[in-house]
Amino acid sequence: MNSTCSERVLSAFSESFGSPAMVVRSPGRVNLIGEHTDHNLGFVLPASVDRSIYLAIGLRNDSMIRFLSLDKHGAYSGSSKNIRPAESDWPNYLLGVLKEFQELDMEVRGVDCVFSGDVPIGCGLSSSAALEGGFAFGLNELHGFGLDRVALAKLSQRSENRFVGVNCGIMDPFASILGREKKLIKLDCRNLNYEYVPFERDDIRIVLCDSQVRRSLTGSEYNSRRAQCEEGVALLKKHYPAVASLRDSTLDMLEAHRKEFDPAVYRRCTYVVAENRRVLDACASLERGDMGAFGTAMNRTHDGLRDGYEVSCLELDILAEAAQSMPGVLGSRMMGAGFGGCTINLVEADALDSFQERMAPVFRTRLGKEPVIHVCQLRGGTEILSH
Ligand code: GLA
Repeated sequence: MNSTCSERVLSAFSESFGSPAMVVRSPGRVNLIGEHTDHNLGFVLPASVDRSIYLAIGLRNDSMIRFLSLDKHGAYSGSSKNIRPAESDWPNYLLGVLKEFQELDMEVRGVDCVFSGDVPIGCGLSSSAALEGGFAFGLNELHGFGLDRVALAKLSQRSENRFVGVNCGIMDPFASILGREKKLIKLDCRNLNYEYVPFERDDIRIVLCDSQVRRSLTGSEYNSRRAQCEEGVALLKKHYPAVASLRDSTLDMLEAHRKEFDPAVYRRCTYVVAENRRVLDACASLERGDMGAFGTAMNRTHDGLRDGYEVSCLELDILAEAAQSMPGVLGSRMMGAGFGGCTINLVEADALDSFQERMAPVFRTRLGKEPVIHVCQLRGGTEILSH
C-alpha cells in the first residue's frame, strides 16, 4: 500500500473540508491478453495492480459537490441537484458516477472528495476506471446503497459511456473493483461469468514500458473502432441471424463474405475474432504452465493490434518488437486501447535487470526519450483503507 498517497489525500481533505472522510484505494489494471474483445462480448484476462488512486470521500448535509485533484492541481464545485459536464475533463469521471446513482433512483447527498494516486495517467493502466470505480465504491458504502462489486463495475462503465463519452467495455472497472492479489481474472464479457486464475510465479515479472505517447484522440478512435465492429456484426447477421456480436462469429464466416465488407471493417473483425480465440488458447497454455506459448500469443496480439485493429503507433511497435527479440522475454505487446500508453512484457525474473539495461538504449536512441519502466505486482481490487 502507498501510505503516503493515502495520508496526503486525508490531510488535504481535513485541511480543505474539515470533516472526517473515508479513504478508498482503487487500483489500475493490466491486461495480459484479450484486447478490444470486451466490447465485442468476448474474453479478457486482466488483473488489478499495485498502482492505485486514493480517494478521501465525505458526505455532506446539503447538495454541494466539491472535488480536489491533488495531481492536476484542480478544484471543482457544483451541486448534486444539477449535474452537468464540467469544462475540464477530470471532474467528469466523478460527476458521471453521481449521475448514474441518480439514474438508479438512489438519492445522492452532497459530497466532498480529494484524490491523488500513483497510477500513471494516459498510460493504459486505466486510471479513469480506477477513479470512477473508487468513487462509486465509496459512495455506495457511505450511502449504504448495497450495490455489489459487479453492479458497481457496470455503473462505472455506464458513467464512462454516457457522461465521459467513451464507449468502452466492462474490462477496466471490473478488473479494478474485483481484482485479487496474485490472480488474473478470466472474464466472459457476455454474461460476466468470471474465474480467478492464479498467477503466482515468482520467476516471471510483469513489466510495462511507457511509450510516453499520449493521444487525446483515443476516445474518438476508440468509438470509431467499436462502430466498425458493429458494422461487421450487422453484415454477418444478414447471413447468420444467430450472430449477436463478434464473439459469435468465426474466421470462416468472415472469409465467406469477405467481398461484402469494407476492407478496414474486415481487418477489425478478423482481429477481434482471432484475439478472442487467442485468449482461450492462452488460458489453456497458462493452465499447462506453458509460458512460452502464452508469451507467443501475446506477440501475435501485438501483430493483430498493429495490422488488423490498427491502434498501435510507431513508438509502441518499436518497444514491443525490440523486447520480443530479447533473451528472457516471453512476450511483449501494446496494452489497452492503443495509440500510445504502455507495452506489457512478461519477463523472466532473472532477466529483469538485463531487460531494463537493454531497453534503455531503445528508448534513448529510437524514441529519443528517457526510459520509463514499471514493474508491477498483482494486488487486490478496490478497498476501504480507513473510515
Ligand atoms: C480500454 C477500454 C476497455 C478495453 C480496452 C481495450 O482500456 O476501456 O474497455 O476495450 O481499451 O482492450
